[in-house]
Amino acid sequence: MSLKEKIDLAKLPKHIAIIMDGNGRWAKSKFLPRFIGHANGVKTVKNIVELARKLNIKVLTLYAFSTENWQRPHEEISFLCSLLTSYLKSEIELMMKNQISFRVLGDISKFPAEVQSEITNVCNKTKDNKSLILNIALNYGARQEIIHAFESLCADKIVHPTEEDISNRLYTKGLPDPDLLIRTSGEMRISNFLLWQISYSEIYITDVFWPDFSEEEFYKAILEYQKRNRRFGNV
Ligand code: FPP
Repeated sequence: MSLKEKIDLAKLPKHIAIIMDGNGRWAKSKFLPRFIGHANGVKTVKNIVELARKLNIKVLTLYAFSTENWQRPHEEISFLCSLLTSYLKSEIELMMKNQISFRVLGDISKFPAEVQSEITNVCNKTKDNKSLILNIALNYGARQEIIHAFESLCADKIVHPTEEDISNRLYTKGLPDPDLLIRTSGEMRISNFLLWQISYSEIYITDVFWPDFSEEEFYKAILEYQKRNRRFGNV
């Protein structure tokens, strides 16, 4: 029986979030420059988006660029921006054909104007698509997201907020919380990702570097999730 066949289609996570880590180490292990690692990381993005859609996962959230990533060398940031723009340009048709709705978590105003306009264009064109919601976290930081939510609560003069009041002020407003959080490349950290939303997520960490995160690795993560007994604090 293949890994795919072992998946229980009645117990799929609705929302999978992924910290895509290890592009640099993947490249280093092959004596290649870091940018080749990122370019191969994009191939994995395309593959995982397609697999998630075929499995009928409702929401896929990928951490592509954190608020801390601005500290990277200028050339690496420019390269990541050009990868993102070419990804959007090349994928828009497929997103329309496959009914993928592209959204951003984060503040994109810090990105160059042409990157912002490409992002806005794809978000607008795909907003009514009904199959998979693909969130890409860009210039995203969970603490900053929570600060914005607090500011919005203050502006609305809400002094005793409910959980819902807060959830409704996050970038993920209206979406279910991630059931499964995957991190590639072995680090045991959350790295300021979705701090509020992952309260009850199952966490799966693999040593595999993101460019090597294959179809089989994706199924392994889902199978591990399906083995867990989610109690949400109950007995
Ligand atoms: C982690 O590897 C990867 C990133 C910070 C960037 C992720 C970006 C992409 C996969 C490409 C652009 C995204 C899209 C959606 C087209 P790392 O550089 O932190 O690796 P390291 O920790 O091994 O150095």
